[in-house]
Amino acid sequence: MGNRVPMIAGNWKMFKTCPEALETARTLVSLTAGVSDVEIMIAPPFTALSGVSEITGPTGIQLGAQNLHWEKEGAYTGEVSGAMIYSAGCRYVLIGHSERRQFFGETDETVNRKIFAALDAGLKPVICVGEDESERDAEKTFSVLDKQMEKGLKGVLPDQMGSAVIAYEPVWAIGTGKTATPEQAQEVHEYLRKILAARFDDNVAAKTRILYGGSVKPDNISLLMALPDIDGALVGGASLDPETFFKIISHKT
Ligand code: PGA
Repeated sequence: MGNRVPMIAGNWKMFKTCPEALETARTLVSLTAGVSDVEIMIAPPFTALSGVSEITGPTGIQLGAQNLHWEKEGAYTGEVSGAMIYSAGCRYVLIGHSERRQFFGETDETVNRKIFAALDAGLKPVICVGEDESERDAEKTFSVLDKQMEKGLKGVLPDQMGSAVIAYEPVWAIGTGKTATPEQAQEVHEYLRKILAARFDDNVAAKTRILYGGSVKPDNISLLMALPDIDGALVGGASLDPETFFKIISHKT
């Protein structure tokens, strides 16, 4: 086994003004003061990162951004670089979330460039993969994941995977209230670990955390976390309320 520390990550998406984000972060810090067996990460919107970092900085809660640009700097109006994110207090960054792929034209190629930009900036990439409903219905789940992993991780070296996290998020389960069944999730996580073993080596496969995302709630987290290849969760809607998110963090398997 790779002694993988479980991780529960909250993706706040485009929710919360600065005051709302600070209040949520303060509540979360006090709720989670006694938690030590799970790594907690939150990804607020860019505007709140620096403020939230002052609150979470002295605690064990890690900060992540929801996106980054692949260039270091330049005339790219509206974009944010890895160094900017790092300097705002982030140590993680989500890359290739399905909403970025679906609404903002991200591809496996841009995911790949962003992974290198994150690593260059000292950020740990949380690389999101997953099939949509029509792909699952057509039994293309594994081939879609093969392609996303192959192109997304092109050129990445085994030791660079040391800081990376994979998030399996079936698109049909995001924000829909439909969760993959524990069997469906475990099957895919096991498959992703096999891809990591083939693409890198057994050590990388054993050490890399693979999170599940898609309608994770307090009442389904325990079943998911009990599965051998699920190392945590990437939580959207249910991470916005700190009390609900804390129930997910403090689940019992
Ligand atoms: P959800 O979102 O928990 O609201 O389904 C998950 C995600 O998009 O990361």
